[in-house]
Amino acid sequence: MSVRMAAGTSVLALTAALGACSGGDGEPEEEISYVEDDASDNTPGTEKEASWTALSGEAARDKFTYANYEEITVTHVDLDLNVDFETKIISGAAVLDFERRNSEADTLVLDANDLTINTVEANVGGEWVETDYEMGPDDEAMGSKFEIELPGGADSVRIGYATSPEAEGVQWLSPEQTKGGEFPYLFTQFQPLYARTMVPLQDTPAVRITYDAHITTPPELIAVMSARQDEDGTRDGDYSFKMSQPIPSYLLALAVGDIEFRAISDKVGVYSEAYIVDDAAAEFEDTPKMMDAIEALYGPYRWGRYDLIVLPPSFPFGGMENPRLSFMTPTLIAGDKSLTNVVAHELAHSWSGNLVTNATWRDAWLNEGFTSYVENRTMEALYGVDRAVMERALDKKSLVNDVDIAPDPALTTLKMPADLAHPDDAFTDVSYVGGMFFLKFLETRFGRDAFDPFLKSYFEHYAFQSVTTEDFLSYFEDNLWENDPDAVTKAEIDAWVYEPGFPDSIEDPQSDAFEKVQAQLDAWLGGGDVDGLETSAWTTHEWLYFLRVLPNSVTAEQLAALDQRFSLSESENAEIACAWYLKALAAGYEPVFEPLDIFLTSVGRGKFIYPLYQSLVDNGYRDWGYAVYQAARPGYHPIAQRRIDGIFGE
Ligand code: BES
Ligand code: ZN
Repeated sequence: MSVRMAAGTSVLALTAALGACSGGDGEPEEEISYVEDDASDNTPGTEKEASWTALSGEAARDKFTYANYEEITVTHVDLDLNVDFETKIISGAAVLDFERRNSEADTLVLDANDLTINTVEANVGGEWVETDYEMGPDDEAMGSKFEIELPGGADSVRIGYATSPEAEGVQWLSPEQTKGGEFPYLFTQFQPLYARTMVPLQDTPAVRITYDAHITTPPELIAVMSARQDEDGTRDGDYSFKMSQPIPSYLLALAVGDIEFRAISDKVGVYSEAYIVDDAAAEFEDTPKMMDAIEALYGPYRWGRYDLIVLPPSFPFGGMENPRLSFMTPTLIAGDKSLTNVVAHELAHSWSGNLVTNATWRDAWLNEGFTSYVENRTMEALYGVDRAVMERALDKKSLVNDVDIAPDPALTTLKMPADLAHPDDAFTDVSYVGGMFFLKFLETRFGRDAFDPFLKSYFEHYAFQSVTTEDFLSYFEDNLWENDPDAVTKAEIDAWVYEPGFPDSIEDPQSDAFEKVQAQLDAWLGGGDVDGLETSAWTTHEWLYFLRVLPNSVTAEQLAALDQRFSLSESENAEIACAWYLKALAAGYEPVFEPLDIFLTSVGRGKFIYPLYQSLVDNGYRDWGYAVYQAARPGYHPIAQRRIDGIFGE
């Protein structure tokens, strides 16, 4: 089956994939080399014309930044910041080192969003001198253009500033919003363009920086960052960090709270509030094996330690791949490791995304599609082909749906259109699942023997660089296609990457387990008794398949029979609960209201709560949904608040 836009669709907004249902220190800093593998593949004399050429000028530019990064590039950021929970303000200084690409350039342009600037100085020959600056008007999505005049010879600037309590990239939680109940908590979420709400910088994935940070907090709290922590990990409110590998700004990250650490191995561990730290260590105990599996396929992990932090439930995503320290939702702790593909996913970003980064958000599939592919290979390596196929089959259903309801066919291509309105629009199943299936297509055509080493060499070749779709395609052409020119045609590749929807060559994952579930479901819907459903051996995946394919015609009476037999309204597995609530709302099965109320007020993960609120509105429960939202809203992350305000038309 091909996955093409249905003609004339649709008034619905495309459901974003994410918005649809210490031992942290101490190891010696490894020496990392950033030498580019510069072996020129375009050997003179090779006549063949390149099929895809690198974009230049405006077409290659990230349009979601004000920064003049083509002229002047910030290379290092030094932060000295105090976290004040009383005022919800982070304040201090940022020193930015930069290199001029254009020696004439005399203005450094940065991104800032809701920052109060106190002083701006430039360093000339070792002396700090005050310099002029201008803060432009505030754009809803982009924030402000922050222009700093550079005296001749300046090579760094120092900015004294403070954040706003409403900074969209920072969530401040009161003690009551934590499980411990005694101390406040803070965490950041900067992808795709919120780093500029905490630090004035060139907030674009096209620019890579190293960073140092000195962070002061109330003395009872621990601060962690996406970086190596100083040797002195004592809980004293004074912490220092170093990230010596160049990262894009969206991977800067900070969390502060009353947290504990449990080691999983000598290189991997988990932080969280005390109540869940042992459960988290048990749920994520396979992480070192995931690391081994990915390293065996795609080369060494280049970031030193790998830790996870399980955040409070208001974290709006499943996971965020902050380097050395992924941020995770507590909804993954299901007790049976059934949702740990999200760990495989965030860990996989250490290669696809963090090591090789999309240069613009139009190329988001290079991050998310590659990562979803590596994630699925990791699940296969650890748990076998059947589980990997089940996960792809569920993903495929969701992709078909996303493509179906896309508001604009231009948003169903892997390479996003030049007029992409907001970076968030690039993070749908098109990039995640479509990108994964494109790589699966290449894997099938070229065979794993050729495709696996190719992907490994791509990560190695572009390590610590930001690349475009065209960079990938030309690398593919020179290093894989050239060796096996009959495996695919240019037209096939172009259709996958540049044409709306997905071609017929997309895999149709066949899961025996799901076929059996389907047969049982058909028998039950055809008039069979609910006791005829033999579910004792079902895993979470089989339940998810069953619930998601239940037809819209299913009645409240049928759902009541299922609930009575299987207690679905009491499911502790957030994915199963969400899939169940969605069916229940569509069928008008009202006994779910009570557990749904509890779910919506205790979970802030967008993947669950956005579709649930949307479904309440769509199925005639707007008033009930709105009342629940009013109670839950203060606990939600600013990103989630904005999204759900939109659902209620506010
Ligand atoms: N990088 C994303 C999260 C993200 C994307 C945050 C865009 C902000 C903007 C992360 O790696 C991710 O994809 N998380 C998924 C995991 C899933 C697809 C396995 C999630 O949060 O559900
Ligand atoms: Zn991801």
